[in-house]
Amino acid sequence: MDVILSGMRPTGNLHLGNYFGALKNFISLQELYDCYFFIADYHLLTTHPNPQDLHQNVKTILCQYLACGLDPEKATLYVQSSVPEVAELYMFLNMNAYVGELQRVAAFKEKVRQNPNNVNAGLLTYPTLMAADILLHRANKVPVGKDQQQHLEMTRDYAERFNKMYKTDYFPLPQAFNFGDDLVKIPSLDGNGKMSKSYGEQATIYLTDEPNVLKKKIMRAKTDSGPTEKNSEKPQEIANLFTLMRSVTKAEIIQQFEDAYNDCSIRYGDMKKQLAEDMETFVAPIRERIKELAANEDYLNKVVRLGGEKARESASKTLKEVREIIGFHSF
Ligand code: TYM
Repeated sequence: MDVILSGMRPTGNLHLGNYFGALKNFISLQELYDCYFFIADYHLLTTHPNPQDLHQNVKTILCQYLACGLDPEKATLYVQSSVPEVAELYMFLNMNAYVGELQRVAAFKEKVRQNPNNVNAGLLTYPTLMAADILLHRANKVPVGKDQQQHLEMTRDYAERFNKMYKTDYFPLPQAFNFGDDLVKIPSLDGNGKMSKSYGEQATIYLTDEPNVLKKKIMRAKTDSGPTEKNSEKPQEIANLFTLMRSVTKAEIIQQFEDAYNDCSIRYGDMKKQLAEDMETFVAPIRERIKELAANEDYLNKVVRLGGEKARESASKTLKEVREIIGFHSF
């Protein structure tokens, strides 16, 4: 049976990219497969968070996952730091991870550019910890957004290297997964790259955004002065608006705006108004559930306690087997 795993760093509120890149896919699989979803709090340590904030951030994100539809009865939902077996697997994988290849990872190079004064070994070995997260449960499908593709390729390399070195087929070679389609990249509202908290709060749509905030952000999204030639190629910021629309708006309405773009009659104000309305329809029920769940501390605690137990069971089984394969037999 397929084993599905995905996770996220608890960096604040969930945004549209998190939802459409990873969560939505995961949620539709949880009915059918052995599914693990975790909160990647060890990963957060590369940026040295405050001890006071760490716990609260985990809780915040936990209730947002649940509000999106993650079902703790169906999927194993846990906090990474409650399954310390992952650290041992990370250590084993690091023995076969090469500094040169880690230094070439795009996300690492980007972080070095952003924070040249905090290039720590945890940041460099981020891909091996991520591989450990996945291989810990011998997952073979990993619903993630396009930005994680390179990390998944590395996970496959590490799994293959381990298998070759120990002449085994113990680890499956996991695939980044989106129902056979291309992985998703939700764009930012400022016309630039992907939607991401680190690229600007105003260009990011959060699942907690109140209606007026949501509308303001969308109405301010960057556009140009409009097409002047029929059927012309869309500039990046306009293509981005269409991509965002495809996540929440009905196909026939999108087609009307496509047609209007192609015959140069499009009014971006109308398009944004439509997008804001449809976005609010999508976000509103999630936002309300987040509020309800946030008030239910006991339930949140219970969910992660039980999830942690289930995840540890699976993790300790893997580690026991991995130790044997490596040659650490018990005395
Ligand atoms: P993180 O926390 O940055 O993002 C969580 C998930 O959201 C997806 N995502 C996007 N997808 C589409 N468009 C966007 N604009 C966008 N922004 C974010 C990401 O692809 C990701 O799936 N390294 C991971 C966390 C992690 C993990 C793992 C994931 C740690 N170990 C093991 C899967 C399996 C990360 O930083 O995601």
